[in-house]
Amino acid sequence: MANIKINGNDHSLDGLDPTMPLLWALRDHAGIQGVKYGCGVGQCGACTVWIDGIATRSCLLPVAALDGQTVTTIEGLATNALHPVQRAWIEHDVAQCGYCQAGQIMSAAALLEKNPSPTDDEIDSAMRGNICRCGTYVRIKSAIKTASASMVASALFYDATSTEETPV
Ligand code: FES
Ligand code: FES
Repeated sequence: MANIKINGNDHSLDGLDPTMPLLWALRDHAGIQGVKYGCGVGQCGACTVWIDGIATRSCLLPVAALDGQTVTTIEGLATNALHPVQRAWIEHDVAQCGYCQAGQIMSAAALLEKNPSPTDDEIDSAMRGNICRCGTYVRIKSAIKTASASMVASALFYDATSTEETPV
């Protein structure tokens, strides 16, 4: 059966039905409930987590397929500080009812980790699978752009610092 790492901690999923979707294993067996059940058929994105850093719908993924893989949920996104996407979400007051927001944030953060400076089309494409019944799409896009600017600025600052400190 699957041994997986969830938010940095080792978990054994021994004893679970191997066809159980990861979403159920996370919520009902690992006690990680930031991840949400929306549609259960891969259409809404509420259940989005990272599998080895890739945004993935956990409602469709059987635990048997996950042995040795690393799962990150909204609870594990912040390390020493909030992720820039989380900070931008707060700044833009994105959430309304909040139900879809963990999935939205995990998709947005996965996009920016791979592509810190996405175009509008790239943002639309990456976020297309995350539905918000409250219609927070405009704030979501604004927050992604704010997070992008923050991540690019951090990278520039880091590069400038490391160039100055690199011995010649
Ligand atoms: S609950 Fe997984 S996509 Fe809707
Ligand atoms: S904030 Fe309510 S569903 Fe997105």
